[in-house]
Amino acid sequence: MKILLFGKGGQVGWELQRSLAPLGEVIALDHDSVGLCGNFADLAGLAATVRQVAPDVIVNAAAHTAVDKAESEPELARTINALAPGVLADEAGRLGAWLVHYSTDYVFDGTGEAPWRESDATGPLSVYGRTKLEGEQAVARCARHLIFRTSWVFAARGGNFAKTMLRLARERERLSVIADQIGAPTSAELLADVTAHALRTVQTRPELAGLYHLAASGETSWHGYACHVLAQAQALAQTLKAGPADVQPITTAEYPTPAQRPANSRLDTSRLQTAFGVHLPDWKIHVNRMLEETLANSLANTLIGNPQ
Ligand SMILES: NC(=O)c1ccc[n+]([C@@H]2O[C@H](COP(=O)([O-])OP(=O)(O)OC[C@H]3O[C@@H](n4cnc5c(N)ncnc54)[C@H](OP(=O)(O)O)[C@@H]3O)[C@@H](O)[C@H]2O)c1
Repeated sequence: MKILLFGKGGQVGWELQRSLAPLGEVIALDHDSVGLCGNFADLAGLAATVRQVAPDVIVNAAAHTAVDKAESEPELARTINALAPGVLADEAGRLGAWLVHYSTDYVFDGTGEAPWRESDATGPLSVYGRTKLEGEQAVARCARHLIFRTSWVFAARGGNFAKTMLRLARERERLSVIADQIGAPTSAELLADVTAHALRTVQTRPELAGLYHLAASGETSWHGYACHVLAQAQALAQTLKAGPADVQPITTAEYPTPAQRPANSRLDTSRLQTAFGVHLPDWKIHVNRMLEETLANSLANTLIGNPQ
């Protein structure tokens, strides 16, 4: 199987390089790759890449994920999140290839408290959400598609909310974190592992093509997430100025941002679990793993004198 992976350096793209490797040859590209174009702002270049590689599977982990910045550059966000995936869909359709794509809970308006199902009406509140929704619709032009909507992605590699909380808790005695947005932190490694499993499955069951919600089990707020991270770090013998009791819950209204975010980011994942027979672990399991990895690395760097 020949797999063409876009966005190889992102949180999910990095983990996909690992999880897709046993499936076949992986040609992994970034926006600055040389030789083959992986730049989503260059639509003709992307089409040329797919025609040259002629893959059996395209996996798209590239996206304009800067949610607040997208408000001031909507055309670029639309090109990367909607038009480029549309080019991939048309090229994949011509080849009869599979196209895997990721989307977001931000396609919903965040009302209510029930977990969102795939069949629920969308209502994005931001440029990011609107362009991601348009991207989903474009990807669905390719019959053999898998679209995974996920939420609150984190990874050991790169920056993330948990690492920011750790840094702030080392610097300050009190933190304020939003407590009225609810979702499930989901690890890039879980997304990558489920993607590989699903791709294997659809080789013999192509009727499973479609849209799926894929997120870790359980739920929390950003405030609950921050408290868990600090408690876990303390349990791993980290010295912090602020512990869980020093994290003040605040409302979204008290922390205005350029992009509006949904209050209810819960995703109902039963369709995915039934179709592919996967178990989705509680969000704390992979957060704890990421913290152990991150804190072990930072301790190793300290011991050999590397700057943090
Ligand atoms: N992060 C989240 O919390 C979250 C939540 C829900 C859904 N998702 C979705 O999950 C998927 C993976 O997200 P992620 O967290 O892995 O995002 P990420 O870490 O921000 O990775 C996105 C990747 O896209 C690349 N990219 C940006 N502009 C590009 C361009 N013009 N051409 C080609 N590549 C470009 C980035 O490269 P540079 O870093 O070099 O710019 C990066 O490698 C995306 O579809 C995202 O919408 C993410």
